Amino acid sequence: MAGSHHNGNDNNEKIVYVGDSRVPKPTKVHIPPDYSAFPGKSEAFIPNFLLKEWMVGCVFLVGVLVLTVSHPAPLGYPADPTNTGFIPMPDWYFLFMYQLLKYPYMSNQFIVLGTVGLPGLAFGALMLVPFLDRSPERRFYRRPVTSAMMLLSLAAIVYLTNVSWTHYQHELEVNGITPEHIEREEKMLEEKKARESGEAPPPAATSVVFADDPAADVYERATCVQCHGTDMRGGGGLPSLIGIGDKYSEEELAKIVHDGIGGMAPQYDANLEKGLTEEEMDSLIAWLALQKAENEGKEAPAH
Ligand code: HEC
Repeated sequence: MAGSHHNGNDNNEKIVYVGDSRVPKPTKVHIPPDYSAFPGKSEAFIPNFLLKEWMVGCVFLVGVLVLTVSHPAPLGYPADPTNTGFIPMPDWYFLFMYQLLKYPYMSNQFIVLGTVGLPGLAFGALMLVPFLDRSPERRFYRRPVTSAMMLLSLAAIVYLTNVSWTHYQHELEVNGITPEHIEREEKMLEEKKARESGEAPPPAATSVVFADDPAADVYERATCVQCHGTDMRGGGGLPSLIGIGDKYSEEELAKIVHDGIGGMAPQYDANLEKGLTEEEMDSLIAWLALQKAENEGKEAPAH
């Protein structure tokens, strides 16, 4: 029975020291050499963690692919170099840089400074932040230099974006330009309103009427084709002449061609100078007046 008692009172037992009590217990927590110091709480970067990340990446990618297939990117309007009713603008998030390039010391002979110098400095400084701003302080008000730089650049971006946008709106107003997407939206809303109120507008022709008429050939030789297009559908801010007879009478059309309208200069004399005859121009105007819904699908009148 004596052999089964292994308590400290057994004087015959040999004392074995574990560790050295004179060496103080380390108070600092050592950074474990690797994840194995936390069994069950950590995992290997390769391959476990990486595989998980890849899985998330794949799910995300599939999501984006599904979206691109189900919602194709909308096509913009066809590029039209003759369209003067168009002010090219960068996307909103680049407006501040666009505005920057309008200042004297950022343009002309200083253009490299505006395009590469200053933006390069700003983004280069961003990369240097981990080396420059080494303080362990996290509260922004305890890091006055970094915070001031950030607030300053934020204020500059907001200011420049606002100036650029305000200037754009002003330009639109001064030149009497309505951006195409807004024009289309307004037209759509107008049509919708008309439909809802029950008083649908009278049907307008949707194709060129009497396309075999000799006047159609005059149209192609006259200036009109340059702006209103071979298909007469205009585009790029220029109005379509399809169904124009539904909108204007022959007299009104003659007045428009003689005197111009809005952004269109007078056309009659310009075409006579171009070598067209008065008879041809008058036949063109008469033909335009026939561009009506009621004439669609009819035989061209005999001349
Ligand atoms: C330099 C370009 C240009 C040429 C050339 C031109 N037009 Fe136009 N036309 C325009 C523009 C721009 C407008 C829109 C004017 C506005 O409303 O401010 C317009 C408007 C019109 C309109 C009124 C359309 C509407 O819905 O109110 C008619 C009609 C018209 N043009 C007929 C002609 C005819 C006919 C010719 C040829 C003899 C011609 N245009 C040549 C640019 C042109």
